Amino acid sequence: MPLSAADTPPHSHRASLLQAVDAEHRDALSTRWDAHGERLVRTLHGLYGNRPGHDAWLTRLLQAVAACAQARPSALRALDAQRERDPRWFLAPDLIGYSAYVDRFAGTLRGVAEKVPYLQRLGVRYLHLLPFQQAREGDNDGGFAVRDYDAIDPALGTLRDLETLTARLRQAGISLCADFVLNHTADDHRWAQAASAGDPRYRAYYHAFPDRALPDRFERTLGQVFPQTAPGNFTHVPGLGWVWTTFYPYQWDLDWSNPDVFADMALTLLRLANRGIEAFRLDSTAYLWKREGTDSMNQPEAHAILQALRALADLVAPGVLLKAEAIVPARELTPYFGSGDAAGHECHLAYHSTLMAAAWTALAEQRGDILTQVIEQTPALPAHCAWLGYVRCHDDIGWKVLADEATGKRGGAPFELNRIARFYAGDTPDSYARGRAFQSAGSDDAHGSNGMASALAGIAAAVETGDAHALALAQRRLLLLYGIAFSVAALPLIYMGDELGLGNDEDYARDPRHASEGRWLHRPLMDWNAANADGDDTSGNIGRAIRRMIAVRRETPALAADASMRALGFADPALFGLARGEGFVALFNMSARTQIIDSLRGFDTAHWQDLLQDERIELPIVLEPYAMRWLRMR
Ligand code: GLC
Repeated sequence: MPLSAADTPPHSHRASLLQAVDAEHRDALSTRWDAHGERLVRTLHGLYGNRPGHDAWLTRLLQAVAACAQARPSALRALDAQRERDPRWFLAPDLIGYSAYVDRFAGTLRGVAEKVPYLQRLGVRYLHLLPFQQAREGDNDGGFAVRDYDAIDPALGTLRDLETLTARLRQAGISLCADFVLNHTADDHRWAQAASAGDPRYRAYYHAFPDRALPDRFERTLGQVFPQTAPGNFTHVPGLGWVWTTFYPYQWDLDWSNPDVFADMALTLLRLANRGIEAFRLDSTAYLWKREGTDSMNQPEAHAILQALRALADLVAPGVLLKAEAIVPARELTPYFGSGDAAGHECHLAYHSTLMAAAWTALAEQRGDILTQVIEQTPALPAHCAWLGYVRCHDDIGWKVLADEATGKRGGAPFELNRIARFYAGDTPDSYARGRAFQSAGSDDAHGSNGMASALAGIAAAVETGDAHALALAQRRLLLLYGIAFSVAALPLIYMGDELGLGNDEDYARDPRHASEGRWLHRPLMDWNAANADGDDTSGNIGRAIRRMIAVRRETPALAADASMRALGFADPALFGLARGEGFVALFNMSARTQIIDSLRGFDTAHWQDLLQDERIELPIVLEPYAMRWLRMR
């Protein structure tokens, strides 16, 4: 009778791994196996233990993993060793992230390498480049429909360019983060093509149904990501049947209940790590496991898959970070760091998408208490984990993550998500925003909003009217949101161009490659003239203010991503405040009314140093409309 993985003596798994590496690497790998091996085997057994041949599969996987460990370049091993000694390395207050499309930012991967001095000047230490792997021909969702994970989009460069870039960035102290699109492949990926051609091995890589019976049953409880442009979750493919496509019809969801999918994808990740990618943005993590009768999001098995990937990364490339992209309500977010026995053993980072959407909502409603609520409901994280703080990214701002907060169920006064969506589309009388609704059926639907932060904060409208006062307020609003992202307990991320107040790309609709996708509104070309000018204009002012925040953050241990955080309470709901670490307070006026703060509960001093203005102040503290202050006790 074949042994199941649970019965296999643990030393035989260890042997499968260690036999395949040479003596020089064996010690390090053996120590890591002691720390992570048992968890890895247990997790994989839970996911795939009932599959025939599980044990042989696991042995083959471990041998292939060992080959990746053996192939890991020495410079990366040195980084691994350094980070194993200092697992807090990415939580330091000088770690600032930046996110950009390769082509929009600098044309090609080589172009990005030339922009390293710019990133250094800004203080960036973590660079997220949106997908640069070879994508599908034609529409490809901004690169999120990957045709070949082991090749670079020829328009952007070559694998050699990638390795040169990672080395250059590493030398500059900047970690490269790449997307790992693990929920789906493009329909022209070789696995998908083999599946279409009838190859049973690859047919089993996807969820394909012969008729609508099961898809219809699943649809009863599934949501929709692109209800307008890609309604439904299944696409009919001739010869294959109804294929699960959560996103666009050309993005085929992988069937992660198939252990071969796990093995192929895990090894892909390790190979990419060996090319010098130091962090992976795990795209659409919420959707990895399907379960009838549910929305097939955030399922326990999806977490187990991430934990198994993490254990493998910890074995082969412990210097690498995993970052979860899950656009889900706050209560579903924290489990992406691992829960129960696995707390701290899943992702190192996760986007705090609820906090981001709450910040825009707080601004539209002039209500800081909405942010207070979200902070109060954000639990402390396991050690060596952190949120990602951000204002904008390449996607729309999804409003549904705030559904609970909006009903008032979570304690605060209710608000209307539809109104927020209309506000950012410029469709309410009080709006200063120049964004657009995304995937909404009409004004009663709050799906998402598109637009660059600067346009949403009112800069475009103020420039149109030439109203200097309105422009000053709009600038403050943009900086207010960045001030929040930079002072919450998080690794903060700048979205390309926000550091210059770059506006919408109103021309996107003229480009046939982008016309049908509203999110290109906020994927403009970088304005290098403005970046280089650093002039006495809106861009220059915003740039200097952002660099000032980065400089202050760098010198303020209380702003480390894992330093303690609590929200301050205020009588006036317009105010939002945070206490961080020892004696640091950040205050934000989310409203157009001047606010006066007479006392700060929990602090028995009236004497403060304003770190951004570099001035001493005393209580009462005045906060002009949309102003903020970062204060240290004197
Ligand atoms: C993620 C990406 C988004 C993409 C989707 C499908 O949410 O951020 O841009 O459309 O995944 O890959």
